[in-house]
Amino acid sequence: MKFFWQRMLSVPDAGVQSPPVFFSCLPLLETQDLVLRRPRMKDAADIYAYAKDETVARYVLWEPHRSLSETRSCLHDLIRRARAGYPSSWVITLRETGRVIGTIGFVWYSAENSSAEIGYSLSRDYWNRGFATQALRAVVAEAFQSLPLNRLEAQHDLCNPASGRVMEKCGFRQEGVLRSRVFNKGEYVDVALWSLLRSDLTRATVKQPDC
Ligand SMILES: CC(C)(COP(=O)(O)OP(=O)(O)OC[C@H]1O[C@@H](n2cnc3c(N)ncnc32)[C@H](O)[C@@H]1OP(=O)(O)O)[C@@H](O)C(=O)NCCC(=O)NCCS
Repeated sequence: MKFFWQRMLSVPDAGVQSPPVFFSCLPLLETQDLVLRRPRMKDAADIYAYAKDETVARYVLWEPHRSLSETRSCLHDLIRRARAGYPSSWVITLRETGRVIGTIGFVWYSAENSSAEIGYSLSRDYWNRGFATQALRAVVAEAFQSLPLNRLEAQHDLCNPASGRVMEKCGFRQEGVLRSRVFNKGEYVDVALWSLLRSDLTRATVKQPDC
């Protein structure tokens, strides 16, 4: 990963794909500890195991899953939308066991503005091991390499600073705080907005990843 930024910069337009084709056929991404791949219906049990956890769902815009069939239904929708070329997500699997421990992907994509938003969540059993950072770095590299993107966004509830730290470690810059931006879990919450521009990748001041 030491040459993460250099690799992107040396081939900035290599392999740029049409976004619907890219979203419908997300490539396999590998990191030191993780393999990111397209979701399958048989991932439902692994996803339900963490998606039912209220702590995991506390700061995301979905509710904790109440049953395996609810997870199956969400997964079915995710797979169907990806096949139709809409912004889609990878499942994050542990390289060692193959277990699905989270998801990461595109919340939306704007062709007009060449921008997109990334979101992610991880099973509580695997927090604070650098896994979300590994996954986001891999997705950022792939996104700028394969999509005609100028800007990537990510946002998090201000009460969820771990998510902001992941963004920071991946080179995102915080742009500001949007007050009472979202009504989530019964209250209005402040949201920190972060971005990473293609031009940020070319600046010498960009903090180099530390692995
Ligand atoms: C947010 C989340 C993805 C982070 O995943 P993770 O794999 O634990 O992240 P990493 O281990 O790569 O990095 C976490 C960083 O946050 C830091 N951190 C953890 N808790 C923190 C806190 N309360 N305040 C500030 N920093 C915190 C860690 O120390 C680490 O930084 P470091 O490497 O400098 O020590 C994970 O907690 C999660 O899935 N939460 C539930 C879903 C969610 O909130 N998703 C994000 C929606 S915006």
